[in-house]
Amino acid sequence: MLKVHPDHPKLEYIRTAAEALRQGKLVAFPTETVYGLGANAMDPRAVAQIFEVKGRPSSDPLIVHMAEISWLPRAVAEIPPIAWRLAEVFWPGPLTLILPKHPDVVDLVTAYRKTVAVRVPAHPVALALIKEADVLVAAPSANRFGHTSPTCASHVLADLGERIDLLVDGGKTHIGIESTVLDLSGSVPTILRPGGITREQLTNILGEVAVHDQAVAEGSQISPGLLPQHYSPRAELIYLLGPERASALAFLRQLAEEKISRGYRVGLLLVDEDLSAFAGLPVHAASLGSESNLWQAAHRLYAGMRWLDDQKVDVILARDLGQQGPGLALRDRLRRAASQVITHIGKNGAG
Ligand code: TXA
Ligand code: MG
Repeated sequence: MLKVHPDHPKLEYIRTAAEALRQGKLVAFPTETVYGLGANAMDPRAVAQIFEVKGRPSSDPLIVHMAEISWLPRAVAEIPPIAWRLAEVFWPGPLTLILPKHPDVVDLVTAYRKTVAVRVPAHPVALALIKEADVLVAAPSANRFGHTSPTCASHVLADLGERIDLLVDGGKTHIGIESTVLDLSGSVPTILRPGGITREQLTNILGEVAVHDQAVAEGSQISPGLLPQHYSPRAELIYLLGPERASALAFLRQLAEEKISRGYRVGLLLVDEDLSAFAGLPVHAASLGSESNLWQAAHRLYAGMRWLDDQKVDVILARDLGQQGPGLALRDRLRRAASQVITHIGKNGAG
């Protein structure tokens, strides 16, 4: 493990990590979203290792990370003007573009698709590392497949530990949820995964943006990473989507009481404003911060899930926070992390 300053990483350490990448080793490193598990995207053996170490199905393609916009032609065969425009506005940053694949990118990276996912991360450590290595870096989130994404080095260690060659510790990630994946390969730009760049930000530039509806997509192959259950803690997560705040909280309190009476350890993953509804109950609360700051909620989401798992809770209660700004990404992650999604409360409880 190499511990570096998040803004001014030591060149000596960056060189060591870059050399490891070039030699086909797996290097975990911080990005502004979550930690990535990187490999040289032109080295089939190294890329195969990523799938192996994560326990990730080889049908789920990886994002190729670049140090600069000018690297786009190294990974992409045809670059439409709108891709350059989006890159200029949002890179470095948490936007991943799906574009026609360059033949040099290893097939395993894209799961034998004709498209490739690309982004330039906005983290000084990631940028310095990729630039120094001077190779395209394929990197999924550095967690076991299906588990919550890592937002600090200790999360990476807990999930992957000795299975990786090198971990560059650059502290906590800033955003805390993954990049927005935008498909530019079809006729209408389509958000496949909401994330660090909001739908509103994209609409400002593009006018029209479609959002891929996961309810329809489940089981389809548009973005294979969009599996029904993903980003999950160990505990059972019950996610309330639909009911307005007061009835949602009344319902969740009742549910908490019922679970506690049956001997369960109950965890909450809620905003500060919601926590008083559980006064007097022996619950473990992971605060997402104030409801007025959903970026903070995004920043705390995965760490909150991991903390609740550390508290050995059996069940985690969460509720929807709308779809404005980062709300859409929070909804997506909570929905996938959930073992149960409740959309309607009947007179006798969940319906
Ligand atoms: O913020 C992030 O995006 C982080 C950091 C490390 O950059 N990476 C990340 O990678 O979240 P991963 O592998 O956990 O998620 C990549 C997502 C998956 O849902 C995958 O299916 C989708 O991008 N994807 C990759 N290539 C694709 C392609 N050619 N077509 C459609 N979806 C693709
Ligand atoms: Mg992931």
